[in-house]
Amino acid sequence: FQSLQASRFFSQLQPKCSFGIAFDIDGVVLRGRFPIGGSSRALTRLYDDSGSLKVPFLFLTNGGGIPESRRALELNELLGVNILPSQVLQGHSPFKNLLKRFENELIVATGKGEPALVMSEYGFKKVLSLDEYASYFENIDPVSQYKTWKTEQVSTTSCHSVPGYIVSSERVKAAFVISDPVDWGRDIQVLCDILRSGGLPGRINGHQPPLYFAADDLEYQAAFPSERLGMGAFRIALESIFNRIHHSPLEYVTFGKPNPFVFKNAETILSQFMPSCLTTKGDTGSYPFETLYMIGDNPTVDIKGARQAGNPWFSILTRTGVFKGTDNHPEFPADLVVDTVEEAVDYILKREF
Ligand code: G3P
Ligand code: MG
Repeated sequence: FQSLQASRFFSQLQPKCSFGIAFDIDGVVLRGRFPIGGSSRALTRLYDDSGSLKVPFLFLTNGGGIPESRRALELNELLGVNILPSQVLQGHSPFKNLLKRFENELIVATGKGEPALVMSEYGFKKVLSLDEYASYFENIDPVSQYKTWKTEQVSTTSCHSVPGYIVSSERVKAAFVISDPVDWGRDIQVLCDILRSGGLPGRINGHQPPLYFAADDLEYQAAFPSERLGMGAFRIALESIFNRIHHSPLEYVTFGKPNPFVFKNAETILSQFMPSCLTTKGDTGSYPFETLYMIGDNPTVDIKGARQAGNPWFSILTRTGVFKGTDNHPEFPADLVVDTVEEAVDYILKREF
């Protein structure tokens, strides 16, 4: 279906139209839940009058917390355009590549939204949210009685139904931070418990299980006028504390932009929106895009990532988010700086057609 849409477009516009666009979300198309920078109008221009996709594009965000299918629906509602789940690449999307290693192992996932649901949709069979996991350990959070909110303690997976399965005596094999954590203090405490005990909180020290972060953004642009602390800030807090209470330093892997593999993956997904005659890899092993545009608001994440990814990426920095300067960013200058995403799309369409 996607290829058919793309074929129609490319049959009319070949050979000049081998380009695609990756849109950052926070600070470019949305601030919180509000569309910004003329994003709805800009995206509408990427569809023809019948509502079919004209230009291969996707969303490349370091955010997440809900499955890609649900994020696509949410974007449909907020932006008024038809987004397919395959057009949504979130920070945690590559976690599905770790399925082979942890499919049947007990793992924990934390962050806003529904971290356990995200991971179980990727196929992980024994995943618990940190909220639920913590609820199996009496007194693990010594300040819980002072909290005015209740945490979800009902499993979204079939963990409870596994015969003879006792959560507190089963070793946690990996921890995943899939989106911005909600209760930093509790999460830091329980993650330290898991990580320094070798996956068995309250027990003696053991080898640290693997820890994965979906992204490492120090700050990002939400609805508040100045930037908010992101997953990278949480990582620093956890790491600083862990390294003070444990004999060996925290080991972890971070995903998300600016990692080059994220841009490679985006290129592969975008190529699926092109007709098959154009998707054969060339001698260089790359897809035949002349240009891939990354439109982002964060110089150290979006622009740095696109610059590192190199050809055919072309970076466009907007002023609607983290970057608020008048000129270009000194350390990670973009190929183009514009005020809004609408201006960016206008530039691309003029340049390409
Ligand atoms: O929590 C989201 C944030 O870290 C970045 O989102 O869309 O700007 O990559 P985005
Ligand atoms: Mg952003």
